[in-house]
Amino acid sequence: MAKTLEEVIAEIKSKLDIVQVVSEEVILKKNGGRYWGLCPFHKEKTPSFSVNPQLGIYKCFGCGAGGDALSFIMKTKNIEFMDLIKDLAQRFNIEMPASFHKDENSKDLKNEMMSACEKAAVFYHDLLINHHSEEIKMATDYLTDRSISREIIDRFTLGIAPKAYTTLYDILKKDFSNEVLEKAGLILPSKEGHGYIDRFRGRIIIPIQNEKGEYVAFGARALLKEQSPKYLNSSDSLIYNKSKLLYGLYTAKDSIKDEDGVILMEGYFDVISAQAHGIENAVAACGTALTSEHIKLLSRYTKSRRIYLSFDTDSAGQKATSRGATIIKEAFEGLGDIKQFDESYISTSDDKYSCEIRVIAPPEGKDPDEFIRTVGADSFKKIIQTAPLLLDFQVNNFLKHKKEYKTPQEKTKYLKDFLPVLMEIHNEIIRTEYVKMVADALNIDEKALEAEIRKLAYNNSFEQNSQNEIKKIVTKSVSISEKAQKNLLSVFLVSDSHFTFAQINEMIDNSYFSNETLINVKSTIDKLICSVNNVKELIEQLYTAYIENPDVQLVITDLISIAETFTNLSPEDFQSVIEENIRRIQRCRWEEEKEKIRNLYKNADEDDTEALKIQMQLRDKINNRIKSEKIND
Ligand code: UTP
Ligand code: MN
Repeated sequence: MAKTLEEVIAEIKSKLDIVQVVSEEVILKKNGGRYWGLCPFHKEKTPSFSVNPQLGIYKCFGCGAGGDALSFIMKTKNIEFMDLIKDLAQRFNIEMPASFHKDENSKDLKNEMMSACEKAAVFYHDLLINHHSEEIKMATDYLTDRSISREIIDRFTLGIAPKAYTTLYDILKKDFSNEVLEKAGLILPSKEGHGYIDRFRGRIIIPIQNEKGEYVAFGARALLKEQSPKYLNSSDSLIYNKSKLLYGLYTAKDSIKDEDGVILMEGYFDVISAQAHGIENAVAACGTALTSEHIKLLSRYTKSRRIYLSFDTDSAGQKATSRGATIIKEAFEGLGDIKQFDESYISTSDDKYSCEIRVIAPPEGKDPDEFIRTVGADSFKKIIQTAPLLLDFQVNNFLKHKKEYKTPQEKTKYLKDFLPVLMEIHNEIIRTEYVKMVADALNIDEKALEAEIRKLAYNNSFEQNSQNEIKKIVTKSVSISEKAQKNLLSVFLVSDSHFTFAQINEMIDNSYFSNETLINVKSTIDKLICSVNNVKELIEQLYTAYIENPDVQLVITDLISIAETFTNLSPEDFQSVIEENIRRIQRCRWEEEKEKIRNLYKNADEDDTEALKIQMQLRDKINNRIKSEKIND
């Protein structure tokens, strides 16, 4: 008999032992009814990660991560939910349900789109290497000019899209629907409103593969100088997300692992040149800004998270370097210090630092592609070997221009932008050294420079604290109400409540919830309690319902923790927990109302008299000062 997807998931879950699943990644020790270990989702030295085998869940009290066995595997192995279910069903010999094929629909569309992209890539490539025309000759000449050999053309499946309107469409429409081709970004509806035309025309085609090697998008470079834009890129689609994909990653993966480092470049042709010349661990964003998603992607392949920034050496490239560094630091925030000092020159792969950023900046001032072509790959490799850490690059860059600044005013102005770099050095000894160096180079007092840095650090932390304070104040009333709402919802998850789900539901009205996530969870609970028999099942089903929504899963984990504090209560106490929280929610709602009204009055008042009053006071003050200065004169 065919099972439903829910049944399959339930069966899989019944076969998964949370302790066993987690043990594959974390060393667990039993203590009481729980198991404890070091959290795999954040860095810690003492265990705050716990597994509760009774409920089949894990939770980290340090970073708040939590969920069930399925979400643990999804997170640690980075697999999509349906892929995981399919894998596990196969492993446990469970037949997938018929309804699953409905889910396949979108998968089918994706597969079709990828297949269309692959056919297009092959078609454009074949045109370039096997056909003849004036246009094709121009493309070949252009590539030869850029030292792109036939071997490289084959390796990167480079191709040509002719100027004509429907070259590709005429071929692909035999095998694919208009919908598939349009969604894949290969064709556009024609402006006249009937029929379709090719999206890429008169361009060199650079096919883009995802991490698995599937063709999902294209970069297309103009053949002529006057053509704009220089690069036309595929838009995001069902199969292509620019901020999560890096050009060249598929072919760079192994090398990134082997070298334990990755080189981030700016352009398609930088990556092509690098990889073609034996610098295989090079990747680039595809015509979009670097994101922390890109960086997270890379951190899966390099253990020590060593990233080389190899951007253009012009001023735009310099800006890209500092922007890139900021993104990288943000992506690894909370994981520890960024490496700022070379113990031994080329570091061994270790996990001491959150990440290691190095900068490749050839003195000749060329982009990587040009450098490799004109100066050579071997020289580029040497530059990689001696690439300075970000800090050294920044200091160096700063000191390069020191001669331009002579007067104290000039020096101060010049230092202002540089102080944050020094401030970021947390290690006292290292900072002292750099301060000494900068002070010497600029011929200023070391103590004064140190004092400036302290002042800046103090101001920054003050600013941050006061920002946090403001946040705290703003969210305070919201959070009381939200906390009460969570308490109220959590009572469904108390394992020994003495009440049936139906009874609890009667005590709790939907109108007590204003937080959107909680409203959503409540309505799911409403549905689930019709079919589940106990709290454990309810929790399981809840996690399953939100398996593709990790944020809500965190809320559920939170609710379970709260529920644990409400166990072992008498029926009366349990009821008064509910009543107390309802009262709190109502009180908060009242306060909000009153605040709104108060604001209305206040604003009306300010408009008329308050502003005027302040203005008068200010004018008086200024007048008094002018007077007293006159007297003192
Ligand atoms: P560059 O203009 O530096 O490209 O842009 P490049 O690789 O040096 O170009 P060539 O050597 O003249 O061919 C770097 C990257 O920025 C994106 C592309 O991804 C390009 O590789 N870009 C640039 C666009 O997406 N659109 C543009 O119009 C220009
Ligand atoms: Mn460039």
